[in-house]
Amino acid sequence: MIVAIDGPSGAGKSTVAKAVAKELGFSCLDTGAMYRAIAWRALQDGVALDDESALGAIARTYDIAFGHVEGDPVPRRVFIGDDEVTDAIRTAEIDRAVSPVSAAPAVREALLDQQRRIGNAGDYVVEGRDIGTVVFPDAAVKVFLTASDEERAHRRVRQNVDRGIGSIDYDEVLADLRRRDAADSSRATAPLRPADDAVHIDSTGHYIEEVIEQICKLAREAR
Ligand code: DC
Repeated sequence: MIVAIDGPSGAGKSTVAKAVAKELGFSCLDTGAMYRAIAWRALQDGVALDDESALGAIARTYDIAFGHVEGDPVPRRVFIGDDEVTDAIRTAEIDRAVSPVSAAPAVREALLDQQRRIGNAGDYVVEGRDIGTVVFPDAAVKVFLTASDEERAHRRVRQNVDRGIGSIDYDEVLADLRRRDAADSSRATAPLRPADDAVHIDSTGHYIEEVIEQICKLAREAR
């Protein structure tokens, strides 16, 4: 069974997806991390971010894998090929590079295969931008999770402070979120948009626990 959680940057998708997966006993797949890993490889290799065929070749060549920190059921470690990039994909540099990478149709096509292969292997909570619309259009539960721009920026700053990586300047983070929303929503291939049958949840002003419970309830009802 697939629970698809889509929505803009900073809406709380990662926190919610991981908690829902833990509560339901599902695995969880962060597809944004996959685009970030491709962006990281491209920067390492000096590939121009508008060179679609070279970006596509990276996405077809490297397997992206997820791993566990001991004792934690949620896969938080990210690998591309032999390199662990768990922290390296969370920098402001990758935040900037990932939009053009994720807009490249050749990259999306290659990652679509990887995402379907992983998700079809069991019960998964899958988070991203096009999970309910393109990757798993038959998902049993589809959620479109949003929050106000300001709340999303505050949350992202707190997350970056906790992680010790990424920008902690509120105005910079807000501007970056808005820039990425615009890029994600306006790209030609698999733009960010809710599936027709998605349940919309606006988490502004709500405790994240309420959102988690609401999604778990939807999943239990869909079983
Ligand atoms: O969720 P995130 O911020 O880690 O995602 C990183 C980027 O990848 C973001 O700019 C949108 C893009 N993305 C996408 O295009 N499709 C997905 N399914 C997931 C992420």
